[in-house]
Amino acid sequence: MELSPLPLLLLFLVLISNFQSGHTQDFPKPTLTVRPQSPVFTGDSVTLRCELDKITGWEFLWSKDSNTESPEAETITISRVKVSDGGEYRCRARRGGYYTHYSKPVAVTIHERPKPKVTIKPDHHVFRGETVTLRCDIYNGGVTSWRYNWYKDSSTSVFSERQEHTFSSVTESDSGKYFCYGRETGGSRWSQHSDEVTLTVSDFPKPTLTVRPQSPVFTGDSVTLRCELDKITGWEFLWSKDSNTDSPEAETKTISRVKVSDGGEYRCRARRGGYNTYYSKPVAVTIHERPKPKVTIKPDHHVFRGETVTLRCDIYDGGVTSWRYNWYKDGSTSAFSERQEHTFSSVTESDSGKYFCYGTETEGSRRSQHSDEVTLTVSVPRAVLSVSPQKWLTEGDPVTLICEVNGSSTGWTFSWFTVTVSESRNDYELLSDSSRGAGGKYTVSSADLNHTGVYVCRAERDKTAVYTTYSNTQPLWVTGVSPPVSLIISPSRTQHFTSVSLSLSCEDQSNSDGWTVRRYTDSGRLKDCSSFLRGSQTGSTCTIRSTSSSDTGVYWCQSESGENYHPVNITVHFGVILESPVHPVTEGNNLTLRCLYKYTTVSNLRADFYKDGSLIQNQTTEMIIPTVSKSHEGFYYCKHPDRGESPKSWISVRGESKNYNHS
Ligand SMILES: *[C@@H]1O[C@H](CO)[C@@H](O)[C@H](O)[C@H]1NC(C)=O
Ligand SMILES: *[C@@H]1O[C@H](CO)[C@@H](O)[C@H](O)[C@H]1NC(C)=O
Ligand SMILES: *[C@@H]1O[C@H](CO)[C@@H](O)[C@H](O)[C@H]1NC(C)=O
Ligand SMILES: *[C@@H]1O[C@H](CO)[C@@H](O)[C@H](O)[C@H]1NC(C)=O
Ligand SMILES: *[C@@H]1O[C@H](CO)[C@@H](O)[C@H](O)[C@H]1NC(C)=O
Repeated sequence: MELSPLPLLLLFLVLISNFQSGHTQDFPKPTLTVRPQSPVFTGDSVTLRCELDKITGWEFLWSKDSNTESPEAETITISRVKVSDGGEYRCRARRGGYYTHYSKPVAVTIHERPKPKVTIKPDHHVFRGETVTLRCDIYNGGVTSWRYNWYKDSSTSVFSERQEHTFSSVTESDSGKYFCYGRETGGSRWSQHSDEVTLTVSDFPKPTLTVRPQSPVFTGDSVTLRCELDKITGWEFLWSKDSNTDSPEAETKTISRVKVSDGGEYRCRARRGGYNTYYSKPVAVTIHERPKPKVTIKPDHHVFRGETVTLRCDIYDGGVTSWRYNWYKDGSTSAFSERQEHTFSSVTESDSGKYFCYGTETEGSRRSQHSDEVTLTVSVPRAVLSVSPQKWLTEGDPVTLICEVNGSSTGWTFSWFTVTVSESRNDYELLSDSSRGAGGKYTVSSADLNHTGVYVCRAERDKTAVYTTYSNTQPLWVTGVSPPVSLIISPSRTQHFTSVSLSLSCEDQSNSDGWTVRRYTDSGRLKDCSSFLRGSQTGSTCTIRSTSSSDTGVYWCQSESGENYHPVNITVHFGVILESPVHPVTEGNNLTLRCLYKYTTVSNLRADFYKDGSLIQNQTTEMIIPTVSKSHEGFYYCKHPDRGESPKSWISVRGESKNYNHS
């Protein structure tokens, strides 16, 4: 069978119209709208509206977060939303016992109203002419686009709507308190106000350059230069020396071991962004060679016990006004004095040593080098006595006694003494004309016989009461043709055996008893016959009962008044001796020499004879030199091949015209 197309089309239209309108009429569903849209900021007002198109007489039921419904008006307004007002809202309508479907749920989001953060670049505190940028940042707002509103101080008008506001060259009038807030570009939301930030613009800054320690600085020390810009950060510092080009460095510049070439004029300035401060005042840094002290010692490096010695430390060219001085001795590590001049008021030998000083600045840190060491020598002053040209003189010869202080040539006054014997002790008797030799030389232009004697000297440091020791003894022996007394020796020769008896007699014209025999030995001692070992004085005769080699010396006669005459060499020797005349031989006479030995029956030895070290005759028992002349003067001795050799004796020859009393 065939169906007609018309009824099919009608059926189709009915089905469609039933589907479209029948559903709406059967199950109405409200639409829930929220103004403004989420997110909403706390404090704003929100309006929720439950719409049921063009139909009246309904009651509206609202529910939040699926909680139980409550009947309310079609429109709900929450005037100052809190975060807790956020949630999922639904609504439906009721009429009679009839309920509509629920609206689609709508989420209402409430955000804390965001608070902008303001940043200021480069700093809160800037200087006239710098470029300053204020920036307003708003986070967590859920708002995509803000318009920014900048306010200054209490002004009510916005001066900028940029997120970043830049002052390209600030002046002091830009100082002030700034804040911003944001408004949503295509909406109604706005942020809180930011906190206020304070911008301070001051006049062009000028750093202060300081140097530690202060000039002058010594080579090797360290110097710190500091470019200070009061409590302000973010700067780079530029340093220049002697107007050379700047170089960027830190705020503090330390030169750890300065050289003289580091000296100069320094300046600094600071830079931030493209902005430079003024230069600091220039500061001159002076570098000096570390000074080396000079030590002076007064009166001398070599002084004598009891003297006053002053050490002085002088430091020149340091540029330091006040020093403390440090004195060290030898290897000691502790300073013994801090005075510039240290005085030892009465030195002793223990003050001898090596001294040095150095200086430390009284109110600072500078120090000098160490001085060179100076050596102080303290000794007991010793007088040294010598004679020129010789101690054996002939009457009328000139002679000079010379007194010196060993190691010191100036500042002394000399005194002169003769050595006398009293009670076997040597005493010193000041010469009546001692002052003649105060300069150190006691000169006799023409020696007199009674100048024979033993002398000592002593020196005194001018004005200081420092005395030397007494000098060594120095004898002067003056021989002459006719002394007032003669020393007669028995046996009559200059050399004598040991352990024999020897007698010495002083004989004068009047056979007086007022003479005593004295002697002087190499030990420097002066003795009376009565104090000789085994010696005794009887009248003018001195007897040595048994000789010994220590009896060797110069013997002479002394008058009661202390004058000395007729010195004679006597040698006492064990073994071989030379027999030679005691007194000078007269020119033209024969000189007879023998070589004697004590322990043979015939005491004459056959021996060799020497003059001044040269053999003059060999193998002879008696050496006779006929018709002597001055050329025969000299030192003679004899030598036996087995028995040994004799001591040397000086034999002098006297001019023919002069007659010698007792030869
Ligand atoms: C002088 O002194 C030096 C050193 O102190 C010493 O060696 C010398 O022997 C002395 N001379 C005399 C003549 O005393
Ligand atoms: C030494 O002798 C001379 C005369 O020859 C005399 O004038 C002088 O006073 C004597 N000196 C002494 C110290 O006795
Ligand atoms: C005594 O001996 C010394 C050398 O020791 C000599 O120079 C001097 O002339 C001698 N004196 C006499 C009086 O022989
Ligand atoms: C010196 O000795 C010779 C013999 O050698 C002798 O003839 C002469 O008389 C002597 N002269 C004197 C002054 O003794
Ligand atoms: C002694 O001297 C003579 C010449 O002067 C010489 O001929 C002789 O050999 C010497 N005798 C001895 C023992 O040396």
